[in-house]
Amino acid sequence: MRIDIVTCQPELLASPFAYSIVKRAQDKGLAELHVHDLRRYAINKHGQIDDYVFGGGAGMVLRVEPIAACFDELMAQRSYDAIVYLTPDGETLRQPLVNRLSLGENLLLLCGHYKGVDERIRQEYITHEISIGDYVLSGGELGAAVLVDAVVRLLPGVLGNEESALSDSFQDNLLAPPVYTRPAEWRGHSVPDILLSGNTPRVEEWRHEQALARTQQRRPDLLN
Ligand code: ADE
Repeated sequence: MRIDIVTCQPELLASPFAYSIVKRAQDKGLAELHVHDLRRYAINKHGQIDDYVFGGGAGMVLRVEPIAACFDELMAQRSYDAIVYLTPDGETLRQPLVNRLSLGENLLLLCGHYKGVDERIRQEYITHEISIGDYVLSGGELGAAVLVDAVVRLLPGVLGNEESALSDSFQDNLLAPPVYTRPAEWRGHSVPDILLSGNTPRVEEWRHEQALARTQQRRPDLLN
């Protein structure tokens, strides 16, 4: 999968992709990430990419021309399965949406800043408006990093069998069950006997019961 990210703060996206599973996915050639600096498409030599809000009010809005120039260049080279704008007024990102996005070949992400982007960009190009939660970030970059991480770990071959995404929380609408490792006894807390029994079918049954109980207690909304 190829993911292009358009931002006016490319520095914010340097480290999230340089470690761990997202890094490994790139090293294995399973994910290709390209960060594009919107300033390269500025409308003048002062690097202008934003402007005042028509009608008055505080804050600046990203202008159409730099985004359109960058998008047109990218879209002339390949077609995108989704063109995503990260924004607090978008659809909340949940696992089923991540799963759908992970099936694409090419994704294009636009990070908002300041007061947002001119509405006409949303009308002209954007296929998905996505929020990572009901709170306001300073820009879409951290949202884009979250989305990329969630999508890339699902790409075939990225996770080993032992870390398979199928056992993640949310994949079956259940939270993940508790897990333990050695030592089996610590400060008087012991690991549940069943996990030491070697009885795999009973362990699986226990895990399912625990996942269900945890979901009922913490996120009953997932069970509806
Ligand atoms: N930009 C600002 N806040 C955001 C949020 N909650 N999700 C995605 N992008 C954002």
